Amino acid sequence: MAEQATAQIGVTGLAVMGRNVARNLARNGFTVAVHNRSPERTRSLVAEHGDEGTFVPGESMADFVASLERPRAVIVMVKAGAPTDAVIDELVPLLDEGDIIVDCGNAHFADTRRREEALRAQGLHFSGTGVSGGEEGALLGPSIMPGGSAESYAKLGPMFEKIAAQVDGVPCCTHVGPDGAGHFVKMVHNGIEYADMQLIAEAYDLLRAGLGAKPAEIAEIFRDWNGGELESFLIEITADVLAHTDAATGRAFVDVVQDRAEQKGTGRWTVQSALDLGIPITGIAEATFARSLSGHVDQREAARRAFPDAGEQWQVADRDAFVEDVRRALLASKIVAYAQGFDHIRAGSQEFNWDIDLGGTATIWRGGCIIRARFLDRIREAYDEQPDLPTLLVAPYFAEAVAAGVPSWRRVVADAARAGVPTPAFSSSLAYFDALRAERLPAALIQGLRDNFGAHTYQRVDREGSFHTTWAGDKTESPA
Ligand code: 6PG
Repeated sequence: MAEQATAQIGVTGLAVMGRNVARNLARNGFTVAVHNRSPERTRSLVAEHGDEGTFVPGESMADFVASLERPRAVIVMVKAGAPTDAVIDELVPLLDEGDIIVDCGNAHFADTRRREEALRAQGLHFSGTGVSGGEEGALLGPSIMPGGSAESYAKLGPMFEKIAAQVDGVPCCTHVGPDGAGHFVKMVHNGIEYADMQLIAEAYDLLRAGLGAKPAEIAEIFRDWNGGELESFLIEITADVLAHTDAATGRAFVDVVQDRAEQKGTGRWTVQSALDLGIPITGIAEATFARSLSGHVDQREAARRAFPDAGEQWQVADRDAFVEDVRRALLASKIVAYAQGFDHIRAGSQEFNWDIDLGGTATIWRGGCIIRARFLDRIREAYDEQPDLPTLLVAPYFAEAVAAGVPSWRRVVADAARAGVPTPAFSSSLAYFDALRAERLPAALIQGLRDNFGAHTYQRVDREGSFHTTWAGDKTESPA
């Protein structure tokens, strides 16, 4: 039986994330149509949470669609890839011109561009919307990154801005840009999340190796750091995880967990896209590869056996000075990761004509999402003051923090290298910084080699044009 069209928005796919987004909308006063492939989930949502607001359950997709006010807005919250396409295919024949499909999953932005184009040709809007904040965020206020047409945002914006996290009265939601812009920004968010977590993990490892400290002691250091410039959700939960004791063994929780980090793919997508765009996001790349390396158990075992004592003993003389060195190195490396991530967003925006507001992106990451952090306010300020900032590293606040951290950064990376503690993200961030600020790079030699073996030509520092040297002959130079 077709329902009356009373719902302002619908959610199909009621696993944890879909369920929580639907509840969040209902709790904020919106009438929400709900649907799931197996209707038991729909029924249990209404039975358990029906008192939180107004839900309109639809047993079939047709009932669900019929219960929505026009233009209809349907949130699809299913697995990325084929399941998303399958739901879209089921929805399309039931929709009318001007209706909106919203994909809130972690879709690849290229899929979002494809879907948006196909649906636009059929008179429908498609909004690829990034949602961050995990289960709790979805229920209590996530960071929402909607892409798609301005018309679709006119309908979705007021609802999404209401259910999003709010920081200083500003919602953590804005219209990111057309077609794939929202999912692209969410992808880079996840890439930064990878880098941030790898840096935190390296800082923990350094503190443990350098101080011989127990996880619970290191938890206190992180708790302390969370009171300063590093204040962020990830630093906060690091303290919680490190302080946790395994009930079964009485050991530190972090010591009973296998040291192999998994990934669902968004970090890898970020690196792949950065390679295509030619943006060096070295921190994110190292973080992604560090997770891969951790999973290569056989190689690790073989190398451990071959090189048991490759590092030196590490004796930290001054505990407090060392902790402060690690803190500063962490902050500087983290600034590099965010600078690289924002460079990547700018490049994507240029490539696909999205006109993404970088300050606006920092604004909607201040709350709700996994990388929420105090210093996102500073990033917003930096880009608001100078939208064409060449790199975040030179914005006054960040330039000062990095400059103040350089001696610590060098000490930490050098000490770690001597002691044989792996710090791929710390060291690559420092190398990136040094490469950016170098007077001359050895890239000149690479140009010479390329010209030598392949006549690829080079440019000179003192004259316009391209040149080639006859390396195999008399070594004369001629304009190419
Ligand atoms: C978020 C997170 C989330 C992501 C997980 C797991 O913003 O809420 O980014 O979308 O899926 O963090 O990602 P990995 O399994 O790749 O670590």
